[in-house]
Amino acid sequence: MLPETQINLLLIEDEDFDVRRVKNTLKPFGDRIVIRDVVSNGLVALDLLKSHPGAYDVVVMDFQIAGSVMGEDLIRKIKKVDASLQIIVITKMTVNITDYDFAERLMVAGAYWYCTKYPGDIENYIYQPTDFILSIVNAYQKKQLELESQLSKKKLERNVEEILSQRRIIGISSATTNLRRQIEKCAASDMTVLISGSSGTGKEIVAYNIHYSSQRKHENFVPINCGSIPGELIESELFGYEKGAFTGANAKKAGLFEMAHRGTLFLDEVGELPLNAQVKLLRVIQDGEIEKIGRTTKIKVDVRIIAATNKNLEEEVKAKRFREDLFYRLNVVPIYVPPLRDRIDDIPVLFDHYLTDFSSDMGKPKPTIGKNAMNIIVTHSWPGNVRELKNVVHRILFSGESVLTNHVVLNALGYAGKKGEGFSAASIEFGDPETISPWKQMEREMRERYFVYVRRHSSSDAEAAKKLGLAPSNYHRMCKELGLK
Ligand SMILES: Nc1ncnc2c1ncn2[C@@H]1O[C@H](COP(=O)(O)OP(=O)(O)OP(=O)(O)O)[C@@H](O)[C@H]1O
Ligand SMILES: [Mg+2]
Repeated sequence: MLPETQINLLLIEDEDFDVRRVKNTLKPFGDRIVIRDVVSNGLVALDLLKSHPGAYDVVVMDFQIAGSVMGEDLIRKIKKVDASLQIIVITKMTVNITDYDFAERLMVAGAYWYCTKYPGDIENYIYQPTDFILSIVNAYQKKQLELESQLSKKKLERNVEEILSQRRIIGISSATTNLRRQIEKCAASDMTVLISGSSGTGKEIVAYNIHYSSQRKHENFVPINCGSIPGELIESELFGYEKGAFTGANAKKAGLFEMAHRGTLFLDEVGELPLNAQVKLLRVIQDGEIEKIGRTTKIKVDVRIIAATNKNLEEEVKAKRFREDLFYRLNVVPIYVPPLRDRIDDIPVLFDHYLTDFSSDMGKPKPTIGKNAMNIIVTHSWPGNVRELKNVVHRILFSGESVLTNHVVLNALGYAGKKGEGFSAASIEFGDPETISPWKQMEREMRERYFVYVRRHSSSDAEAAKKLGLAPSNYHRMCKELGLK
């Protein structure tokens, strides 16, 4: 009956005779149930509980004691100090043993149980000693359960915090500040969200941030890439099927809607959804019920939908590739994530963030970057957006250079052979007047950047050489000298 570990009690009792009664009752179990302290005053008890967190498991208290804090008031105050503490009240045996009202008031205030004692000094024991011992053991077990549940709640919170910190949205531009505000608003509501923006802009992390900041954060976030599942399988993925629904259905399968019940379903690349699946999706969104393949009755689901697309869905609707009614159902709260080149203030911040992050991951010191090299990064057009920027940082670190020159950066940007991704030739800067570069170095940098610029705006090396007024062989040699080949 008694647990292996020791149960620590705080006894709040102001009559010596009653203290003796409790001690006598507990004596046979003295090695397991220990009265750590006896106090006769409610305020002293509260001070003791506050100054010794975790020291007591169960509080045994007389209902009526001298002093300013007693009874239900004291119960409430103890629970405020530590909600996991369990309280057993000992009351004088009242004449009316069917006073349910009194018992209820104790429980409502937060007591775990109550036991009675004989009036006056009739007995040396608490009335019904076995009940008393049992209630202490049960109270202890309840405390353990509550601690465990507090712990798992904390763990869940920590998980959510970790997920969010891994997917923190970096950036200081007004567009990104605005994006954060939109995410906050979406997290506070349960509305369907449609996130649009070109590839690599951060649509997926926006979806994660909405879910894990919302009320549904402890439930599942279920992502599905609508573009990567063959059309004929989409329905069974989304809605699942019963055993024997079709040949090959050997066991029943839960669909993603069921898995996302109470949570969020993230329909990534929703523009890729085949038309027949669009019809079914629309029906589920309208009815809040799914039709599992091979099942006659529908299943109610509570799922929040966040969709994302890098297509212009309005254009898709016009071209009849996307159902207009579904578009309106999804586009309740639209969020547009702009391309990186439209929020250039974010570029140096993101670059620095990933440079710090990845070099620490690789156990390398963080390289330094010159002003000109940073300029190249900021003026690059970033067609692949943040994803491209992350790759470039990886490539730069892979080069192993501790100082990032224009040359290293240009190489990592993979300018060679690419067309139409110019950086501004006007953005050549002379750098810090305190550290003027020698002419030779500056000349080289300018030549390098000009060559890159011209090559970008030419369809071939031969064309670039022609524009530069150089013989192809000279152009080739100079590129080599500059390390551009
Ligand atoms: N503002 C940001 N701060 C930090 N990391 C970001 C930011 N935006 C994007 N990323 C990172 O860039 C990468 C691409 O982002 P994500 O996958 O969310 O883009 P996407 O818009 O969903 O792209 P696609 O359309 O190709 O699926 C991810 O590794 C993501 O963590
Ligand atoms: Mg994505």
